[in-house]
Amino acid sequence: MLIKKPNDIPLSEITPKSSYLNRRTFLAGAVAAGAAVAGGLYLRNHDSAGLDSAEMSSTVEASGAKITGIVKSPFSTNEKPTTFKDITSYNNYYEFSTDKYEPAGLAKNFRTRPWTVSLDGMVKKPKTIDIDAIMRLSAPEERIYRHRCVEGWSMVIPWVGIPLSAIIKAADPLPSAKFVAFETITAPDQMPNQKRSGVLDWPYVEGLRMDEAMHPLTILAVGLYDEVLPNVDGAPLRLVCPWKYGFKGCKAIVKISFLDKVPPTTWNRMAADEYGFYSNVNPNKDHPRWSQKTERRIGEGLFAPKHPTLMFNGYDQVASLYAGMDLNRNF
Ligand code: MTE
Repeated sequence: MLIKKPNDIPLSEITPKSSYLNRRTFLAGAVAAGAAVAGGLYLRNHDSAGLDSAEMSSTVEASGAKITGIVKSPFSTNEKPTTFKDITSYNNYYEFSTDKYEPAGLAKNFRTRPWTVSLDGMVKKPKTIDIDAIMRLSAPEERIYRHRCVEGWSMVIPWVGIPLSAIIKAADPLPSAKFVAFETITAPDQMPNQKRSGVLDWPYVEGLRMDEAMHPLTILAVGLYDEVLPNVDGAPLRLVCPWKYGFKGCKAIVKISFLDKVPPTTWNRMAADEYGFYSNVNPNKDHPRWSQKTERRIGEGLFAPKHPTLMFNGYDQVASLYAGMDLNRNF
């Protein structure tokens, strides 16, 4: 990963409080504006006939709108969540910038409606689903997860999302489908770095093995802190697989494909010896250029003691997925 400024200081430590308060005031206004939408947003709808329909009643979603009907999850950690401000101002979103602090501003006007996701490849029911229909596939769940970046920092994020398995079931994969590939939108008119060469190969792509994708911990995030997902965190739909390094969490997804072989993934294509396909959080497998044994928790300050990094980011329940695999080799 291009670590341009290893000593980046979290914005929480340098932003005057007044700017933060201004942002919250803006969000409060947006909440009011979005309330009418949010009220109808998460009605459960198991009528598969409705999935492809253009007649979905939900309309443009305002950033900052509250999500209603959120169900708590036993998978949540009880660690203290990172502040909303840090989660939404210290980001990796290379389509906008390779800097950590610039994407928040640059992504502010990114358009997340209309938005559809195509499901294709080895499935019985290929389809294009509207984002609002995806949100109705399953009740929104709060998943407070540790988020560990391969660069050595971490956060605790109260995501709101639906199990990835819900959308996979809607596509009804063939038995031959062994992998799931995710693709970020291509929108050079909105994403300045997609017009530049030498950043990454676009679109940003990621992938999971089918059993990883179907695991109950794996979600498609549609929000955080009970609000519609901020653009900078991957709105309107972003993958979260909490036992893997953060770069697996493909943002602004427009395509999910089902394959019988390992899909190419962006960072693996950039540097295969540094970023494996699996990329499970693993304190015993150092990155070739730095240790993975500890992590700096964003918001705690540069001089706070680092946290020990846990195997699978502490999500031990996934260990059986890798029985017989040497994760220090097949990373
Ligand atoms: N998805 C896209 N499309 N583009 C990106 O640059 N960065 C990845 C991942 N998903 C990235 C992406 C990386 S390196 C990380 S660590 C996480 O998003 C960061 O998520 P966050 O900004 O919400 O913390």
